[in-house]
Amino acid sequence: MSIIDIKNLKVHYPIRSGFFNRITDYVRAVDGINFSINEGETYGLIGESGSGKSTTGKAIVGIEKVTSGQIFYKDVDITKARNRRRLDYNKDVQMIFQDSMSSLNPRKRIEDIIAEPIRNFENLTTDEERRRVQELLDIVGMPSDAIYKYPHEFSGGQRQRIGVARAVATHPKLIVADEPTSALDLSVQAQVLNFMKHIQQQYNISYLFISHDLGVVKHMSENLAIMHRGRLVEIGTRDEIYNHPMHIYTKRLLSAIPKVDVDHREENKKHREEVEHEFQEDQSKWYDKDGGVFPLQKVSGTHWVALPQSEVKAQLKEEK
Ligand SMILES: Nc1ncnc2c1ncn2[C@@H]1O[C@H](COP(=O)(O)OP(=O)(O)OP(=O)(O)O)[C@@H](O)[C@H]1O
Ligand SMILES: [Mg+2]
Repeated sequence: MSIIDIKNLKVHYPIRSGFFNRITDYVRAVDGINFSINEGETYGLIGESGSGKSTTGKAIVGIEKVTSGQIFYKDVDITKARNRRRLDYNKDVQMIFQDSMSSLNPRKRIEDIIAEPIRNFENLTTDEERRRVQELLDIVGMPSDAIYKYPHEFSGGQRQRIGVARAVATHPKLIVADEPTSALDLSVQAQVLNFMKHIQQQYNISYLFISHDLGVVKHMSENLAIMHRGRLVEIGTRDEIYNHPMHIYTKRLLSAIPKVDVDHREENKKHREEVEHEFQEDQSKWYDKDGGVFPLQKVSGTHWVALPQSEVKAQLKEEK
């Protein structure tokens, strides 16, 4: 059962120029994407900087205007503000922002920052509210005296955890987590990811996990979509994406994951060079004549890739 279904979503930003400040062109940040998130799962959305990931996330939580297409939440199109109000959508769907410094109000104490979404949707007494905030801080492993402090008094990792506490405050059904750990050290990264998994199991939350790093999401996501130039180049299960990637862009992202095993260093380097060579050799194999991403072709019930039919067939034959 899916919680989110995205149908042909487009978000274009106007570019204005000249004396009259007329719209002269558009940035096609998101340009016709389709995918679905199942209830209780972590769905990975991966791509390099500028590929349109944050814009997609913001459109889903309803803070970015959609140019065209639909976003269904439990079969209701929430691109319409009227439907969002009717469904309590703003309570059920929360976002952890990419940049924790600018997403937490610097003039507010942590207590008020975390309590804000609760105040919007529930009528708690001051005592009940404080207990709830303490509980949330505890869940993300922050000391209880944090409530009296301001965002600048914390480290990046601590702020990111405060962002997590705020996002789960209203017991949401879906959290869009935009690069929730990319600003953190590896050790802290693991901590935050563990929190996220823990509360997912406790409250049956679905995540849209956004990252530029396929290494980070490997142990989080059951299904993934690879985004490039505002389009999806490949969709698949974890096994399909990590073990049977078909698009050169997915292969390049995979070969860029840092490896720790010293035994295979030469082998890994050779593989990286092969992928790079394959990419450079023949661009027309991977992109259309304008450098655009091809439409998605079905490979299996769960696996889709943006390549011409002939290329899909050739790759499948080779694999056999
Ligand atoms: N408010 C805006 N106005 C105009 N263009 C925008 C706006 N927000 C984003 N863009 C453009 O849309 C494209 C996609 O941006 P987006 O922030 O979604 O990328 P991203 O995949 O999240 O990248 P990153 O990994 O760097 O966070 C970029 O080319 C960006 O410059
Ligand atoms: Mg982003």
